[in-house]
Amino acid sequence: MRLSAAILAGAILTAAAPADTGRLAWPADYRASGLHYATVDQPLRKVIHRLYATATAVDAVRRGGPFPTGTRLIMEVHAARLDDRGRPLTDADGGFLTAGPVAVYVMRKGAGRGGTPALRQRRSGEWSYDAFDPGGRRAAGDVDGCVECHDLRRYDDFVFSRPRLERRLR
Ligand code: HEC
Repeated sequence: MRLSAAILAGAILTAAAPADTGRLAWPADYRASGLHYATVDQPLRKVIHRLYATATAVDAVRRGGPFPTGTRLIMEVHAARLDDRGRPLTDADGGFLTAGPVAVYVMRKGAGRGGTPALRQRRSGEWSYDAFDPGGRRAAGDVDGCVECHDLRRYDDFVFSRPRLERRLR
């Protein structure tokens, strides 16, 4: 009885304040409907970043305007395939071979959230961050690191790879 009352109370709380939990939804369709605009090998961490843009992001860059509210960008993180001495194996063009995806990072632009980074609120500027495993389960832990690092790009709307998306669409 007490348990169901607690669940009910939780449900009411959730219903009353759905807007600002800072949690993002799993972007189930990002591979099918998003544009894979760049792949970045990261030799220090021995990972590969596959970057995907949703239609909203693509439209914004085509128009040359800012990313609008609701824009989502997705970064699929892959472990690099290593040889027996721990060096990344590469294809004919020198690109890292993947050992498979290990995480999916998402950032989403919300509305009217002010310009200062707010570590506890999982966002920088108007962007919120979240991390999932490749199956869509939310990763444990906080996103303070995401916020801090992306804040370095505050002069370009907190996004690192817009120039790559622009090049891809040229
Ligand atoms: C140490 C700095 C750093 C941290 C920490 C970091 N990122 Fe990034 N992120 C980058 C860089 C740099 C890129 C551009 C791709 C590249 O160069 O590999 C990027 C790209 C992205 C992109 C594609 C859009 C863009 O900005 O280019 C998303 C989405 C993203 N990161 C989400 C996250 C999330 C979610 C977290 C935390 C779970 C996170 N990032 C943590 C540096 C960081």
